Amino acid sequence: MPAPTSITDVENVPLPRHVAIIMDGNGRWARARGLPRIAGHRRGAEAAKEAIRFCASRNIPYLTIYAFSSENWKRPDTEVSELMQLLSFYLGEQVKDLHREGVCLRIIGDRSRLGATIAQKIEEAEALTRGNTRLHLNVALSYGGRQEIGGAVRQLAERVRNGEIAPEQITEATIHDALYTADIPDPDLLIRTGGEQRISNFLLWQMAYTELYFTDTLWPDFTSAHFTYALQEYQQRERRYGSIREHAAGEAAA
Ligand code: IPE
Ligand code: IPE
Ligand code: MG
Repeated sequence: MPAPTSITDVENVPLPRHVAIIMDGNGRWARARGLPRIAGHRRGAEAAKEAIRFCASRNIPYLTIYAFSSENWKRPDTEVSELMQLLSFYLGEQVKDLHREGVCLRIIGDRSRLGATIAQKIEEAEALTRGNTRLHLNVALSYGGRQEIGGAVRQLAERVRNGEIAPEQITEATIHDALYTADIPDPDLLIRTGGEQRISNFLLWQMAYTELYFTDTLWPDFTSAHFTYALQEYQQRERRYGSIREHAAGEAAA
């Protein structure tokens, strides 16, 4: 899909409150240029910065980006360690900028696999930015939707075993509250770059009614103009939540 040449104003039509992004295509971007895959990940990190700024400037209050999946641990050791170094660098260097821009950072995923140094940086970054409200940025790291749901099930089973709740008290709401995203609204829009049309274990529970937008653009090439284009397409969608047209408005939470 070509990048839009002009950006029309998207302010007057409802924007998504929460955008989730599967940032895919870094490796192919690098290969097309004869560069090592890590060069694609570096450019991908720059594209992520642009997307974060875009959301902040458009008053989109929640952005969740998929940076490393629980399945990405299967990649060669060199790529995994280069990705972890890049991540560690951004957690150290970029967090002050995010803080200045009013971004509240949260990392979702299995921290136990990330190592003590990164875990420490995550805690510091979250503590520094906790009070910010302009943009809630969630970065999914060592994240898998099935693992997340499995963790929630274990947590609820333990509460039953401890006599805190009865099995009948397990509802969609208690499951929601046991996920990493307990206090975050479900994504309205998922953007996946890089041409694949799949979810790859991202936010499985949360995306029950998310609008899906797939583009062939590789993540390092994804700019604010592409983001605007995705929002414009989102604004054409009619969200029905299983209802019929006349009754659909406002029933998201029903
Ligand atoms: C996405 O780009 C970034 C991560 C999964 C860490 P890829 O590395 O998957 O790039 P492609 O899909 O090989 O082009
Ligand atoms: C999904 O991309 C994960 C991230 C973008 C972090 P992958 O490249 O890992 O997805 P698959 O393997 O093609 O499904
Ligand atoms: Mg990929």
